[in-house]
Amino acid sequence: MAARREGTKTLVPGMPQNIYDQTDFFLGYSRLQRSVLGLAGAPEWPALRAMLPPLSGLRVLDLGCGFGAFARWAREAGAVSVLGVDLSENMLARARAETHDAAVVYRRGDIEQLELDADSFDVVYSSLALHYVANLAAVCALVRRVLTAGGAFVFSVEHPVFTAPRHPVWQRDAAGVAAWPLNHYLDESARVTDWIAPGVVKQHRCIATYVNTLLDHGMRLTRLVEWAPDATLIAHHPDWADEPHRPPFLLIGAQRP
Ligand SMILES: C[S@@+](CC[C@H](N)C(=O)[O-])C[C@H]1O[C@@H](n2cnc3c(N)ncnc32)[C@H](O)[C@@H]1O
Repeated sequence: MAARREGTKTLVPGMPQNIYDQTDFFLGYSRLQRSVLGLAGAPEWPALRAMLPPLSGLRVLDLGCGFGAFARWAREAGAVSVLGVDLSENMLARARAETHDAAVVYRRGDIEQLELDADSFDVVYSSLALHYVANLAAVCALVRRVLTAGGAFVFSVEHPVFTAPRHPVWQRDAAGVAAWPLNHYLDESARVTDWIAPGVVKQHRCIATYVNTLLDHGMRLTRLVEWAPDATLIAHHPDWADEPHRPPFLLIGAQRP
């Protein structure tokens, strides 16, 4: 299959980018606070955790599991099994090295192409992975099929106001007040950004698309959180002071009726 260049990264039509298996990106990502500290280093985690049902006795699927921090936490919270799926060998290698639990299984795979049994999970979770996926409808169809009746789908993505601009750079007025460019908001398509490494491809889609794609696949919306650090967090991280101007993360809870 013919490959093309986008930014500095090779893309194959129909295949996801797998930037986490590129050495420069992976080394940079591994140095982030959330990579070093796990869930404790992810400031949005308490809000996402609050959207989860009690996991005791439940079978959990984690889409884009990364280093496996959530998979291990889910087992401590009582889940009977966790399947973590990720595209990146680098991420899965560390996940496997840090997990000593036969009830946690990691599988290499593309979220968009997964083949899993119907009604085989009680909870599907995904943290900051689905904005890499081009076909959200395929993901929602998968989730609807693999969830048992009453099962929960809880996920986070980069917030659409964060992903909207083609040139995601803060602007400042004469008084130094920050503003975030929101042009191209309704243009739902790939964005190529320089984040950790040049040429990282993410998929921008509107809030309505996240919500309506879930509804179109027979899911019920249970919660929507536009997460930004509060005053307490900003007091500890003064460099986050502008974040509430454009919430970085969107957290969504849904349920299979
Ligand atoms: C920002 S990391 C988040 C990792 C983990 N969920 C967390 O919150 O720490 C995004 C992860 O999604 C994975 N990913 C991206 N696109 C994917 C795809 N199409 N299929 C499977 N995994 C994918 C990446 O390899 C990476 O591990």
